Order: sequence, then C-alpha cells, then structure tokens
Amino acid sequence: MSRPNLAEILDGRKVVCCVGSGGVGKTTTAAAIALQFAVDGKRVLVLTIDPARRLANSLGLESLGNRETRIDPKLFAAAGLQPKGEMWAMMLDLKLTWDELVTKQSASRAQAEDILKNRIYQTLSTAMAGSLEYMAMEKVYEVASSGRFDAVVLDTPPTSNALDFLHAADRILGVLDNNAMRIILGPMLKASKVGFRLLAVPSSLVLKTLSRFTGAEFLKDLAAFMLAFEGMFEGFKDRAARVNKLMRSPEAAFVLVTSPTPLTIQEALFFHGALKADGVPTSAVIVNRVQRDPRRLGGPDNPAALREALQLAGLKDENELAQRLGKTLTEQATLADLDRREIARLEGTLKATPLFTVPRLRKDVHDLTGLWQIDNCLFAGGE
Ligand SMILES: Nc1ncnc2c1ncn2[C@@H]1O[C@H](COP(=O)(O)OP(=O)(O)OP(=O)(O)O)[C@@H](O)[C@H]1O
Ligand SMILES: [Mg+2]
Repeated sequence: MSRPNLAEILDGRKVVCCVGSGGVGKTTTAAAIALQFAVDGKRVLVLTIDPARRLANSLGLESLGNRETRIDPKLFAAAGLQPKGEMWAMMLDLKLTWDELVTKQSASRAQAEDILKNRIYQTLSTAMAGSLEYMAMEKVYEVASSGRFDAVVLDTPPTSNALDFLHAADRILGVLDNNAMRIILGPMLKASKVGFRLLAVPSSLVLKTLSRFTGAEFLKDLAAFMLAFEGMFEGFKDRAARVNKLMRSPEAAFVLVTSPTPLTIQEALFFHGALKADGVPTSAVIVNRVQRDPRRLGGPDNPAALREALQLAGLKDENELAQRLGKTLTEQATLADLDRREIARLEGTLKATPLFTVPRLRKDVHDLTGLWQIDNCLFAGGE
C-alpha cells in the first residue's frame, strides 16, 4: 500500500489544528509541524494554549506571552537546521485576547471601557466554559485572515476536545445573547437605559427574589454587562460565522493525535466520529510514542547472542547483564506487539484516514533537535 505523504496532506492549509486526548503529544506535534513548515520555506505561527508552557521550553524561550515571537535563527543553527522560512510562536493569553476583541468590536471607546471594567465580564471572560476554545478560534481567524503568516498551527489544551473548538462560538454567543436572561433582566435593562446610575434597587418581584440569593450588586453588574454588550451581538455573530466557515473549509486541517494505548485509541475514535458527524474530516491521525520493536533492528535478542555481543564489544557480562538485557528486549517486543495490534484496530476502523506513527523517543522532546526527529518520522517516513 503506498503511504500517503503528510506534507501533501497539509500542503496549502492555512490552519492546522492538532487535537486529541490529554498528554498524547498535541503540543509536541503542533510544534513539529510548524518546524517542518518553516524548514520548507513557510512563514508559520504555532499558537499554543498549553498551560504547562511546555512549548515555550521546547523552543528555548522563557515565555511566549500573547505576542507573536519569532524563534531565534540561532536556535535553528544550533540544531543544525537551515530553515528557508520563519517559525513564530505564541502562547494564548485568554484575558488579553478577550479584551482585544471587545475593544475591536465596541462601537466606541466608552463602550469598550464599560465592558472591560465590568466585574461580570472580568469573571466570565476567563471562567466561561468554552471561552478558551472560542478565543483560540478567534485568534486563529485573526491571524489566518491577516495575511501575516502562510500558516498557523493550533495546539489545543488538555481539557477540551475537538468539538469544543467547532462549537465554541455558538456556546459563547448563547451565553452573551441569552434570551431568558434578557427577559428576567428586562425591567432593569430598560431602567438602565434611562439612567443606570439612578437605579438603586431591583424593582420587579423576580429581581427582588433573585437578588436575595445573588446580591443586588451582582444583578446590577449583570444588567450593566448585558447593556454594555448591546449592539455587539451582530458583530460577534458575523465573526463567529466566518470562523466556522474557515474551520470547515479545505484551508483548515484537523490532525488527530493519539497514543497507542487502548483507552486513548478509544477516545481518538470517538473524536474522529464526532468530527465526522459534524461534517469535518480528520485529515490525518498521528499515533505518537509507539514502542519500537527491537526485533526489527536485527540485533542480538537472546541471552546467548547478547553474551557474544558483549564479548565482542569488550564488555563484561556482570550480574547476568546478558540475561537481563534479553528480558528487557522480550518485554519491549511484547509492548511493540500490543501497540501494533492497537494501531491495526485503529487503521481498520478509520479506513480512508491516513495514519502516521511516531516512535517513543529515548528522551522527552524539549528542543528543536527533538522536534526535528519527530519530523523525520512524520514527513520523511524514517525513524
Ligand atoms: N514521540 C515522543 N517520544 C518521547 N517523548 C515524547 C514524544 N512525544 C511527546 N513526548 C513527550 O511527552 C510529554 C507530553 O507531550 P505533549 O506536551 O506534547 O502532550 P500534550 O498532548 O500537549 O499534553 P497536554 O494534553 O497535557 O497538553 C512531553 O514531555 C513530551 O516531550
Ligand atoms: Mg499540550
């Protein structure tokens, strides 16, 4: 069977989203894809929302902030790489991105300030479910439509799943444009229009009852929040629709990362099915940290052969070294068999979706050299 080529699959994509369960290697894969793009001549941005700042470390940076930061060409030189393009990285700061968006969408500076200093906004913008995903999508859209980069590679946080990204905009809009909330707060909003500062106590019975639980201050903040957002829903909706369109266009690719363990494979299949049900194809599946099979390396794999190899290498067979090495190799071979079986199961279920494997490297991937090793497996088909 001819192997599909990941470079071809990702060719011409403006957005690549790396999705998958927690800890499978999404951040690593996103950075590795961005590195390959940069080496091939693209100007690429990897956008991470990784709270552990692992990507920052992997790129030799202290922190990435909410600013696009170019990876120092010296780091490439130190890793023996000569990229034809540029690699940039950015860590998404949720609060800053929300603030930027509100400022951009507000009709006036005063409206923006009203929202930014509102306590409900301050809490909602960081705590609202789906906020992170929405802001990531927003940032991806902003970057992709700005023309500043040829491509943006999006890393996703451990807690969310691929669908959270696709539906983030709808969920956030649902909260902001909540009709039920408007009905309850209606009298207060009306009063607010007349003069919010005159409004001291909630007037309707519902509000009076509610404020007993929530505190009048909270309701006042909430009404002010809804009021401040007046007139902005259309702008948000319009933008959300455009984000949705981009993510579902051939310019975007979803790369599903998984490990070869049965549980994560199960989760990967779930993601894949859910994306498909949403009309979004998985462009590629990457099975990361696959156990290498020592038998494939063709070296000595039984105690007698290992003893001989030790002798040839001038090493002593102390403390039954050959015996223990043989046992380790057998264990590794068993693990490799298990991984192979899981991968076959995944391949059998996915059928048409191209699948790539990356072996478990000897060390954690924390620099460009490590990322490049991953690229050699993903893009060149070698190990
Ligand atoms: N092929 C590999 N071989 C060895 N180590 C790897 C490999 N891929 C990733 N790692 C290491 O595994 C750890 C987890 O990887 P990574 O942070 O990319 O996962 P993640 O999916 O982004 O995790 P989270 O869901 O917590 O954000 C890291 O320490 C990384 O260096
Ligand atoms: Mg991560």
